[in-house]
Amino acid sequence: MSPTATVPFSTLIREASQRQHTEAENSSFMSDMLGGRLGVAAYRAYTEQLWFVYRALEGAADRLAGDPVAGPFLRPELFRTAALERDLDHLHDGADWRAALRPLAATETYAARVMEVARDWPGGYVAHHYTRYLGDLSGGQVIRGTAERTWGFARKGDGVRFYVFEEIANPAAFKREYRELLDALPVEGPERLRIVDECQRAFSLNTAVFHALGEAAGTQDR
Ligand code: HEM
Repeated sequence: MSPTATVPFSTLIREASQRQHTEAENSSFMSDMLGGRLGVAAYRAYTEQLWFVYRALEGAADRLAGDPVAGPFLRPELFRTAALERDLDHLHDGADWRAALRPLAATETYAARVMEVARDWPGGYVAHHYTRYLGDLSGGQVIRGTAERTWGFARKGDGVRFYVFEEIANPAAFKREYRELLDALPVEGPERLRIVDECQRAFSLNTAVFHALGEAAGTQDR
């Protein structure tokens, strides 16, 4: 038995991604944006890129709903595309933003990987699902508060709806249940490690998007 087989999967995946989490949190783009050193255009650009990522994640939901590995994670109360679209309507002052919106190359790579695993590998899809949604339920709340204060969005209103999970009354309890789902994943041995690797890849894909956004906003990763 491998030593990792006895560790609950939720612990394994969290610990394996901790270093990259710190890296993502402290990326120049995130720290400049949350430190109030970037204008609302940077926040809008970030939100735009998220739209491509969540369309990839959620576009696969119907197909994966009955899958024994990925299916239990596909909870409609997590879906973010509609909230992102309301935020983008607001951030573009109601103008039609869809036609002109383009993913950055880094975002395209990220979304393509999500679509690939959604098609071929449910365990890999879970890794991407965990990386985004559990993060949104956690650090996302810090980002929301800062965005409200920095750019004057209404509390939990248009502009920050992405961070507001209207249908999750108790995020702490939800996260506990989510970790139970991770622990109950019907996967063993090398497949657990493959999923952990994919989570690390998901973090790297996020960091690459931050880097590209930072360059576009005129910051450099230090
Ligand atoms: C400034 C940005 C960020 C802040 C302040 C932040 C903060 C946090 C905090 C405080 C937690 C712990 C919550 C808890 O234990 O319940 C957390 C968890 C998490 N964050 Fe972040 N985070 C940030 C960015 C990110 C990014 C960019 C990602 C990935 C794309 C991410 C993914 C995660 C995940 C997956 C967890 C859950 C870890 C676990 O308990 O398994 N975070 N974050």
